[in-house]
Amino acid sequence: MAIRGGLFISFEGIDGVGKSTQADLMEQYLEGRGFSVLRTLEPGGTELGQEIRHLLLHRKGEVSARSEALLYAADRAHHVASKISPALAAGNVVITDRFLDSSVAYQGAGRELDLTEVRNLSLWAVNNLLPDLTVLLDLEAELAAKRRVQTGQEPDRLEREKIEFFEAARNSYLELAKAEPKRFFVVDANQEPSAIWSQIQRRLDEVLESKEL
Ligand code: TYD
Repeated sequence: MAIRGGLFISFEGIDGVGKSTQADLMEQYLEGRGFSVLRTLEPGGTELGQEIRHLLLHRKGEVSARSEALLYAADRAHHVASKISPALAAGNVVITDRFLDSSVAYQGAGRELDLTEVRNLSLWAVNNLLPDLTVLLDLEAELAAKRRVQTGQEPDRLEREKIEFFEAARNSYLELAKAEPKRFFVVDANQEPSAIWSQIQRRLDEVLESKEL
């Protein structure tokens, strides 16, 4: 089933809130309803993006704040141009694990760059494309950090940041959601995955109803 102009959904939140679990559930649900879904992520949703992701997360040595912001924006520009926009034009649903709000929260609030400048940089990179729906999974930074430890995975460069960095990012996300209540749907991520999903599903159904199918 195609949607005129497609449907663009992003998942946001600090590391460890459970974005990919919820994105999986959404993908299954939408496919079950007969939609074609492109499931993707940032950074690293394209081949070029995978190389940028490696530079950002695993390369040894310092990355200055502005350089970091530009690398995320470069990844996003190519992601939109080569994957997201064509999928939307074909009438598909795109679900991305992170989009430009991540840059505002992490590079803006986390790295203390100007929030508006970081947002404008990304808007330029993506030719002003914004999601129809952004699901923000909200969790205290301490709790999210505990969950990350439980995964047993080696932390990447960003995940090694102090708790204050994630607190700043979390607060910034909440501000963004307040500023754009129509686009954002904020869910308390300190619940069972099935309870979180049923809230998201309700909002998704409303968004689908408002779209021309
Ligand atoms: P992600 O793939 O969500 O992490 P993981 O694979 O560990 O689940 O994102 C990698 C990191 O990049 C994450 O710490 C958030 C950060 N990030 C930014 O700082 N700015 C951005 O614009 C994006 C998209 C991600």
